[in-house]
Amino acid sequence: MAIVWRDSMSVANSKVDTDHKRLINLLNTVEKQLENPEEVAPILKTFAQLKIYTLEHFQREEILQLRVRYPKAAAHKRIHQSLVKQLDDIIASVKAKGVAAKADDISALLRHWLIDHVLQEDLPMKAYFSKYSTDLS
Ligand SMILES: [Fe+2]
Ligand SMILES: [Fe+2]
Repeated sequence: MAIVWRDSMSVANSKVDTDHKRLINLLNTVEKQLENPEEVAPILKTFAQLKIYTLEHFQREEILQLRVRYPKAAAHKRIHQSLVKQLDDIIASVKAKGVAAKADDISALLRHWLIDHVLQEDLPMKAYFSKYSTDLS
């Protein structure tokens, strides 16, 4: 079932929220494509978009964190680096072995990869974005 954006996911910054919505859309697209696991080319195309947009988003988020003096910025950057590595591993696995019977595993991994990060690690930024909102327009 598709992931639906909820207000509870907001970090009180429109740029980051827009990015997260777009990442969720890409994830929903991959999940839909995984229903046809033999069609690997479109899955890899969406993964390529997900990788590009993830790098852009992480960079944007890291810059904003510095601007609002987010105290966990350095640790958060390391988490982002680890998430990029995880995404690279998933993409490499699909390239090497296709999807075959692993579509459910890949969906679960992606959900864990994106949703856990947005909900657990990004959400604490909200207090800082709220405080500095007038500087970030
Ligand atoms: Fe994020
Ligand atoms: Fe993040």
